[in-house]
Amino acid sequence: MANDRLDIVIFGATGYTGKHVVKSVTHMRKEQKMKFGVAGRRQEALEAVVKEFASDIENVPILVADVKDEESLKKMTEQARVLINCCGPYRLYGEPVVKACIATRTHYVDVTAEEQFMMEMQLKYSEAAKEAGIYVVSACGFDCIPSDLGILFTQEKFGGEVNDVEVYIKMLTITDNKGPYLNYATWESAILYFVSRTNELQELRNKLFPTKLPEFTPKLKSRGMVHQSDVSEGWSVPLQSCDRSLALRTQRFLYEKYKERPAQVQVYTTITSLFGLLMLFIFGIMLSLLAPIACGRKLLLKYPSLFTFGFITHENPDPELWKSMPFSVTIKARGWTEKLAEPTDKHINPPNKTVITKVSGVSAPYEAASIMAILSAITILNEAGKMPDNGGVLTPGAAFGKTSLVEQLNKHNIKFEMISSTVK
Ligand SMILES: NC(=O)c1ccc[n+]([C@@H]2O[C@H](COP(=O)([O-])OP(=O)(O)OC[C@H]3O[C@@H](n4cnc5c(N)ncnc54)[C@H](OP(=O)(O)O)[C@@H]3O)[C@@H](O)[C@H]2O)c1
Repeated sequence: MANDRLDIVIFGATGYTGKHVVKSVTHMRKEQKMKFGVAGRRQEALEAVVKEFASDIENVPILVADVKDEESLKKMTEQARVLINCCGPYRLYGEPVVKACIATRTHYVDVTAEEQFMMEMQLKYSEAAKEAGIYVVSACGFDCIPSDLGILFTQEKFGGEVNDVEVYIKMLTITDNKGPYLNYATWESAILYFVSRTNELQELRNKLFPTKLPEFTPKLKSRGMVHQSDVSEGWSVPLQSCDRSLALRTQRFLYEKYKERPAQVQVYTTITSLFGLLMLFIFGIMLSLLAPIACGRKLLLKYPSLFTFGFITHENPDPELWKSMPFSVTIKARGWTEKLAEPTDKHINPPNKTVITKVSGVSAPYEAASIMAILSAITILNEAGKMPDNGGVLTPGAAFGKTSLVEQLNKHNIKFEMISSTVK
């Protein structure tokens, strides 16, 4: 890779998330010397972003590239060591960017939560990325850094063998709805994701993983529609996000590569008020009825405010709303104090150890997510030697599990901590 490249280029820098990344990169640049550039399809809008967030930095290169113009993408990616792609929905715009990165040997990270996109990229480009010696790592934002790396952190702290983990994600603690809280592109991405949840995802999974993993017992079952957990105050419901599927892909990768016993995973979201829980159910029913049919999708996309009770509109959220809003991801792991010789060896006794850990911070979807994406990119720049296979399309856990990313996140107020450890 040529030495005169910029360390990081932020593509989609004019978007809501892209601007957060530019803002955070300018702050982080003070502690970590790095050269960065901004990229997107509109020169003037990019100039305005640089003026607003990086006016005190000399010479921030502006690169004009459009997803619909392959050559412009290559001209952009060949100037970066790592590209942070903030241009979504990824199912619509992501693939040409990944292709350009592979063609120009540029590492790639993004903040997608779109499982279909991630699995398709892994299926189509993993070998090409390995051959090019570059890492393509999706989901380096709030989805799924806290859950995926949080599970690995828990397994490391466990000091024995983990059988299963239950993950409780708490993100919005709203007493008074002052929305919108999420940007419209997140709504579009969520609808596209929801559409692909059924057959398409199963087909992709079957192609990616034609052989089944051995059975690990005791089996971890989902706790059903609603439950109250001893580790997360409120009402918890199964979360229809990519966190579980992605964590399972990481666990499988570690089993196949390092012969580590894979943990079984269930993921829930915790709601603190009964009213919030009711809203979530109504929202879930509407989404599952309308998203699968074309005219239903049209309605969802046209009237986001109506279907999300004002949480998402066509307007950008006020960043102040998230400023002091905490998030937490609590992980309860069960297993055994002793580790057996082989990952497939069966324990005679039931699990005798429980460890609880927590990942926490503020402003999950934008500020914290932008820091997670930047630190992921910096980790590739600084610690590629600790990453597997000299390249590939990988989950964050598979890519960064043996690096110091968790340590770096801790230094930037995204806290990974052990809460308790109990042996029966
Ligand atoms: N998982 C997480 O933690 C997390 C957090 C935040 C966001 N996200 C995801 O990030 C994505 C972006 O969200 P957002 O709210 O930032 O969206 P946004 O504000 O709509 O920004 C989209 C960006 O893509 C650019 N773009 C669109 N079409 C393009 C094209 N043909 N060529 C080049 N650039 C193009 C836009 O450029 P223009 O300005 O020129 O239109 C803009 O910069 C979404 O998929 C969202 O779900 C994930």
